[in-house]
Amino acid sequence: MPRVAIIGSGLIGRAWAMVFARAGWDAAMYDAVEGVASKALGLAAEGLNELAKHGLVDDPKGAAARVRAAKSVADALDGASYVQENVPETLEAKRAIFAELDRLAAPDAILASSSSAIVPSLFSENLAGRARCLVAHPVNPPHLVPIVELLGAPWTAPETIARAKQVYESINQVPIIVRREIEGFILNRLQGALLAEAFRLVGEGYVSPQDLDKTIKDGLGLRWSFMGPFATIELNAPGGIADYCARYTGFYKRLQAKPASLDVFDDANVGNILKEWGKQAMPEQLAELTRWRDQRLAALAAHKKAQPSP
Ligand SMILES: NC(=O)c1ccc[n+]([C@@H]2O[C@H](COP(=O)([O-])OP(=O)(O)OC[C@H]3O[C@@H](n4cnc5c(N)ncnc54)[C@H](O)[C@@H]3O)[C@@H](O)[C@H]2O)c1
Repeated sequence: MPRVAIIGSGLIGRAWAMVFARAGWDAAMYDAVEGVASKALGLAAEGLNELAKHGLVDDPKGAAARVRAAKSVADALDGASYVQENVPETLEAKRAIFAELDRLAAPDAILASSSSAIVPSLFSENLAGRARCLVAHPVNPPHLVPIVELLGAPWTAPETIARAKQVYESINQVPIIVRREIEGFILNRLQGALLAEAFRLVGEGYVSPQDLDKTIKDGLGLRWSFMGPFATIELNAPGGIADYCARYTGFYKRLQAKPASLDVFDDANVGNILKEWGKQAMPEQLAELTRWRDQRLAALAAHKKAQPSP
């Protein structure tokens, strides 16, 4: 069995353990805080049982048995050909753990960071093994949302990216390649553009936040769960993408001439949005909503698995 070392066993680390283990890998989870990795074992087992209810794992007990808690970084790395790092999102933490991983991991092991926003050149530049380092950014929760953004530094070997892509495909994730470093990678740049406009439209009183959410969940988002914006516009004009652009880009140019300003994210506008949103969810309600979201995502993942793309 191939072995993965999961470094940092919080929200994302334990989900990665589930993803690798359900695909047949042995996964060793390590966490710097005593007791966290062993608690994560139970949470991963529960998560695998939930996945099984939706047909998303055949043998949840077998998968859970392939996950273990490691006593140290070196113990987690024992026999690992792949490392998925999930420590907190600070440059200092990433630099320190990557220096340790590069020192201790097998020479041919790939070192992948789950970082949401830190480009790999910032924490791998001075490492002897910098050619084997990359960012592999998942979306929460990675056991239900399969996209992984792969991003190398200028010195990351092309074979590292190619091998990482193969690994994620083999564990049923959907890797994409970010061809060169850019802040926010791809997913969060798209999300940021949408949020900026949403904050402007609600903040300036054009629409309520609830109606704006409906525009996505009962409008654009229905298509987006199985096709992206390019595939969408290809079908929105009889002559495909070129025809769509000829018809509609003048309109989009007018909209983009006045983009949302930076102050949509300032306290005053955030205050307007919170007032309109109208409810301050308690932690237990947020936990309940998270469970509901994960169940819906699991049902959607099962549907997508049964209806592969053309
Ligand atoms: N939460 C998300 O939505 C999300 C999504 C995508 C990517 N990420 C990225 O994943 C990474 C982890 O985020 P998270 O949400 O799981 O955070 P988290 O706080 O839930 O987990 C981080 C864990 O790392 C442990 N830790 C700290 N220092 C460590 C060290 N030196 N060695 C081993 N363990 C250590 C902590 O004890 C903690 O359990 C971050 O880089 C984050 O940006 C998070």
